[in-house]
Amino acid sequence: WKPPGSLPVGPLPRLPTWEWPGGGAPVGGIYTVLQTKAKITSDEWGENYFLMGPYLEQNVRTQVELIDPPHPAVRRTIDSMNAKGCKVYFGRWLIEGGPYVVLLDVGATAWSLDRWKTELWESCAIGVPWYDREANDAVLFGFLAAWFLGEFVAQCEEKPFVIGHFHEWLAGVGLILCRTRKLPVATIFTTHATLLGRYLCAGSVDFYNNLHAFNVDKEAGDRQIYHRYCMERAAVHCTHVFTTVSQITAVEAEHLLKRKPGEGLGKFSAMHEFQNLHAQSKAHIQEFVRGHFYGHLDFNLDKTLFFFIAGRYEFSNKGADIFLEALARLNYLLRVNGSQVTVVTFFIMPARTNNFNVESLKGQAVRKQLWDTANAVKEKFGKKLYESLLVGNLPDMNKMLDKEDFTMMKRAIFATQRHSFPPVCTHNMLDDSTDPVLNTIRRLGLFNSSADRVKVIFHPEFLSSTSPLLPVDYEEFVRGCHLGVFPSYYEPWGYTPAECTVMGIPSISTNLSGFGCFMEEHIADPSAYGIYILDRRFRALDDSCTQLTSFLYSFCQQSRRQRIIQRNRTERLSDLLDWKYLGRYYMSARHLALAKAFPDNFTYEPPEETAVSVRPPRSPIYPAPTLPPRVLRFCAGYGVPGPYISPPPRGIRVYPAPLFPHLAPKGSLHPLPQGFPCIQ
Ligand code: UDP
Ligand code: G6P
Repeated sequence: WKPPGSLPVGPLPRLPTWEWPGGGAPVGGIYTVLQTKAKITSDEWGENYFLMGPYLEQNVRTQVELIDPPHPAVRRTIDSMNAKGCKVYFGRWLIEGGPYVVLLDVGATAWSLDRWKTELWESCAIGVPWYDREANDAVLFGFLAAWFLGEFVAQCEEKPFVIGHFHEWLAGVGLILCRTRKLPVATIFTTHATLLGRYLCAGSVDFYNNLHAFNVDKEAGDRQIYHRYCMERAAVHCTHVFTTVSQITAVEAEHLLKRKPGEGLGKFSAMHEFQNLHAQSKAHIQEFVRGHFYGHLDFNLDKTLFFFIAGRYEFSNKGADIFLEALARLNYLLRVNGSQVTVVTFFIMPARTNNFNVESLKGQAVRKQLWDTANAVKEKFGKKLYESLLVGNLPDMNKMLDKEDFTMMKRAIFATQRHSFPPVCTHNMLDDSTDPVLNTIRRLGLFNSSADRVKVIFHPEFLSSTSPLLPVDYEEFVRGCHLGVFPSYYEPWGYTPAECTVMGIPSISTNLSGFGCFMEEHIADPSAYGIYILDRRFRALDDSCTQLTSFLYSFCQQSRRQRIIQRNRTERLSDLLDWKYLGRYYMSARHLALAKAFPDNFTYEPPEETAVSVRPPRSPIYPAPTLPPRVLRFCAGYGVPGPYISPPPRGIRVYPAPLFPHLAPKGSLHPLPQGFPCIQ
C-alpha cells in the first residue's frame, strides 16, 4: 500500500488477484426504491427497522425529525460513537411509514480515512485512490456503518439477531467489514445495476451477446473503476443473500460479478381518477404546444397524441437512438397513409444548457398575449351583451365589437407570424453541435415542418411546476401524455415505465429492462394491457426498430375509446407494482439471510412460488383480457410494412443512410435490406 497521493492518475494498476472485484452505479432510482419500500418494511418490522444513510444537512432539515433514540442500545451506540469523534444523528424520516433513520456524517470522520483505507487494504486488498472522492466517501460510510453495527451488537444485553441490507457498491464496504470483522449480522446485498454494465453498455459494445466473454478485471481497469468494481464484487461475494432488481440484471450480475443472485423489486400504489387526471394534465400540455407551435398550428390538437421518453441522458442506453429512427419511420407512415393524427414527442433528458432559448420563451409569450387579447375582447363583448339583455333586447351583433377591438386582435395575430419552424429544442444547448439527440434529428430531418406528422421537442432539463415554459411537474406531465416510450438497451429496472403503469398510461419498454422482463413474466398478453415490450435482445437492431415503429403506428390508429379502455387495463396492473406484492421478495431475502447467518436459530423454507432464488412466480398472474381488445393486438412482427401500411412510393428513400452509424460496432446491426423503400 502506498500512501494516497503517490497513486498514479490514469488507469489503475492491476491489484493482486482475488476472487471478488465489484463495480457500481450512480445513485438514482435507488432513492425511490428505499423510500417507497419503507412503508411495507415498517409494517413488518415496526420499531425494529432502521434505515442508515449519510448525513446531508439540507435533506435532514426538510425531511427528518431528529429525535432521541427510543431503543436504549441504539442510544448507547450513538453516544459511544459520538464520544469518539463521530457525528451520528437519529431521527424519523418523514415519509410514509415514518421509519427510524441513523445518519452518519462522513465528513466528520474524514481524519480516519487513511487508517481505514489501510485496514481495507490489509483485510481484503482493496486499494482506493486518493482522487476518487465518491469512493473515499463510500469507505468512510462503510466503516461508520460497520462500526455502528458492531457497537450496537456489543451494547445489547441479549444477543440480537441483526439483518443488514446493503444497497449498491457505495454501501458495500459496510457489508464487507461485517464479514471480515465477523460481526453477527445476517447480510443482504442488492445491486440496482452493475457499474461495469452501465459503462460497457454506454460504449460501442455488443453487451448482451458478449456477457460471458468480458475480461471484467481488464474492462474495469480500462475505465478506471477497478477499485469501485472491487468494492461491489467483494460485497456481492461476502453477502449471505445477493439480490438484484430484476431478472435481466441478474443475468448481468452473474457474468460481470460472478455470482448468481435472486431478485427483489420496486414500488407504487395506484391513484384514483386517473382518467380525469389524464384529461386535465393533457390540457396543460396542449396549452404549451399551442405556444410552442404558434404560427404553425395547422394540426388538430384534438387528434394529437403526446409521446415521451424521460430519464438519465444516456443516448443509446436509454434507446433514444432507436426511438428517433422509429419516429422518422412513423412520420413517413403517417404521411403516406394520409393520417389525421399528429404526434408530438417529448424528450425529457437533462443535458448541459444555458437556460431556455428565446424562441421557446417567445412562443409562450405570444400564446399568453393571444389569450389576454381574447379575454379582453370577451370581457367587452360580455358586458355589452349583458347590458343589452338587461333592457330586454337581443344584441346587435354588428355593434358588439368596435374598430379598436379588431385592431387589437389583428395586432395579436401579426405577432404569431414566424419565419422559422417551431424549435426542436427548448434550451440553449452548450454542446449543440455534438449533442447526439440534436445530431440525429438533423440527420433524420425531423424539423417540425408543417408536413411532419411527427413533431419533436427536446426539453433537456427535468420538469418543474415552476418552469416559465412548461409549468407541470413530471407526474402531471406523464398523466397528460398518451404513451411513454422507453426502448432502453441498458435498464436494470426502469422506473419510468412503472410510473406510467400506475398512472394508467401505456408504455413501451424492452426485454432488456427489468420492468419489461417482469411484466412479460406476469402478464399473458402485455400489449393488451398497454405494456408493449420491444424485443431488443434476440433481434437485430433494425428489426427492433421496425417493431418499435409498428407499435407506434398501431397506437396512432386507435380511437379515443380504445385508448380509454386500454388506459383502464394499464391501471389495473398497478397492484403488481405495489410494494405489497413486491415486498415479499425482500421479505424472503431477509428470512434466507437470517437462516444462513444464524442457522441454529432460524430455518428458511422458500415460499412455494418464490423458490430458493427468491424469484417471482413463473406462470402469468394476469391472464389475457377476456374480451378481446378491438385493436390492441399489435403487430409485433418484423417486416415493415405491416398489412395496414400501403406500399410506399417507389424510388424514394425514407432513411438517409447509414442507419445507426454510431451503433455499428455493436455487432447486431443488419444493413437495410436491398431494395428497401427509402425517402431522401
Ligand atoms: N424523473 C423526474 N423528473 C423528470 C423526468 C424523470 O423526476 O422530469 C424521474 C422519474 O420519475 C424516474 C427517474 O427520473 O423515477 C428515472 O428513473 P429510471 O429508473 O427510469 O431511470 P434511471 O435514471 O434510474 O436510469
Ligand atoms: C379521459 C377522460 C375523457 C377524455 C379522454 C381523452 O378518459 O375521462 O373525458 O375524453 O381522457 O382521451 P385521449 O386518449 O384522447 O387523450
